[in-house]
Amino acid sequence: MSIEPLRIGVVGCGAIGQAHIGVWSEISDARIAAVCDANPEQANAMARSLGCAPFTDLKAMAASGLIDAVDLCTPSGVHADQGMIAAEHGLHVLSEKPLDINAEKARALVALCEDRGLTLSCVLQRRTYSGARTVANAIHSGEFGELLSCCAYIKWWRDQAYYDSSRWRGSITLDGGVLANQGIHALDHLCWLAGPVIHVDHAYAATVGHQMEAEDFLIAVVRFASGARGVIEATTCCNPPLCSRIEVVGARGSAAFDDARVVQFGYGGEDLIRTVDEADARLGGRAEAMAISMEGHRAILSDFAAAVRDHRPPAVTGRDALVAVEALDLIYRAASASS
Ligand SMILES: NC(=O)c1ccc[n+]([C@@H]2O[C@H](COP(=O)([O-])OP(=O)(O)OC[C@H]3O[C@@H](n4cnc5c(N)ncnc54)[C@H](O)[C@@H]3O)[C@@H](O)[C@H]2O)c1
Repeated sequence: MSIEPLRIGVVGCGAIGQAHIGVWSEISDARIAAVCDANPEQANAMARSLGCAPFTDLKAMAASGLIDAVDLCTPSGVHADQGMIAAEHGLHVLSEKPLDINAEKARALVALCEDRGLTLSCVLQRRTYSGARTVANAIHSGEFGELLSCCAYIKWWRDQAYYDSSRWRGSITLDGGVLANQGIHALDHLCWLAGPVIHVDHAYAATVGHQMEAEDFLIAVVRFASGARGVIEATTCCNPPLCSRIEVVGARGSAAFDDARVVQFGYGGEDLIRTVDEADARLGGRAEAMAISMEGHRAILSDFAAAVRDHRPPAVTGRDALVAVEALDLIYRAASASS
C-alpha cells in the first residue's frame, strides 16, 4: 500500500527557506503543498516556481486544508507564535533553530504539541552528525566519568552588511544576539553533552563591533545539571573567524570539536579519535551564514517526515530543542542583571 507524502507548508522563503525547499524536493515521502511569506512577491514567486499555493498569512495557510505540517524558516523570534498557530490547527511543526528566543513561548509550544500528539522538531543539525553522536553516546553511557568542564567558544565573523540586510537581524526580539543566532548550535551541542544549564555564575554581553541592538560579544560562566562547569564565549567580531570549539573534560575522558569535526576523543586511557567517522568535516558558517553543508538539514527534514508517518518521536524533539532556549534565557537574564 502506498502512503501519501506528507504535505508541507514552508513558512518564510528567504535564505534558509529556499535551501529547505531544495532539500524537501529530494525527500520522497514529503512534498511542498503551499508556501507562505509575509512578502507577497516572495510568496508568489516561490509558489509559481513550485506549482503550489501561495499565502502571506499563516492562519489562512493553516486553515486551508492543503497541508499536514509547517516548516518554519522565518525570523527566530516568531517561531513559537507561528508554531502555536499551526498546532492549534492540528498541524505538525518543524522549526528552524532556535525553537524560539523566548523561553516561555517555546515551553508553551512544546506543551501544546505534546498535548495534541503532534510532532515537533527543530533544525539542530549537529545532533545528526555521526562523530558527534559517537561522543555523545560515550558521555551518556558514563565512559567519561564525572564531567568536570564543558566549554564552547564561538568566535565568528559577520560584517555590518549582514546585519543591515534585513530588519530582524541583530534585533533583540526577533533575532537575539550572537548566542541566540550563531552560537545556538554550539550551545545546543554543549547542553546535549553536559545537560541543561541550571545556573549562570556570571554573564557579560555587549555590542562592540557592529551597529545592532543585540549583543555581538558574550561571555558566560555556567553550571550544568550534570555538575559540570563551563565557559561560553560567543562573538561575531572575530575576523578572520576561528572555528567554533567545544571542549569536554571528564574524570576519565575528554573530547573536543572544531566546528562539527571531532578533533579529540578518548577515555579510560585510550585515544579513540581514529574510531570517529571523519565524514563530519563540514563547513560551519564561520564567516558567512549560508556557507553551511545541507547534509544535516537533509537528515532532520527526512527524519521529521518519517517521524510523522511512523508516529514516533523525531531525532530532535521539541523538548530537546527547548534546553538551549532555556539556557539562552538564563544567560541573557544574568547578563542584563550584571550590566
Ligand atoms: N540551521 C541552520 O544552520 C540555519 C542557517 C540559517 C538560518 N537559520 C534560521 O532560519 C531562520 C530564517 O533565517 P534566514 O537567514 O532564512 O532569514 P531571511 O531573512 O533570509 O528569510 C526570512 C523570510 O521570512 C519572511 N518572513 C518574515 N516574517 C514573516 C512572518 N511573520 N510570516 C511569514 N514570513 C515571514 C521574510 O519575508 C523572509 O523571506 C532563522 O531563525 C535562522 O536562525 C538556520
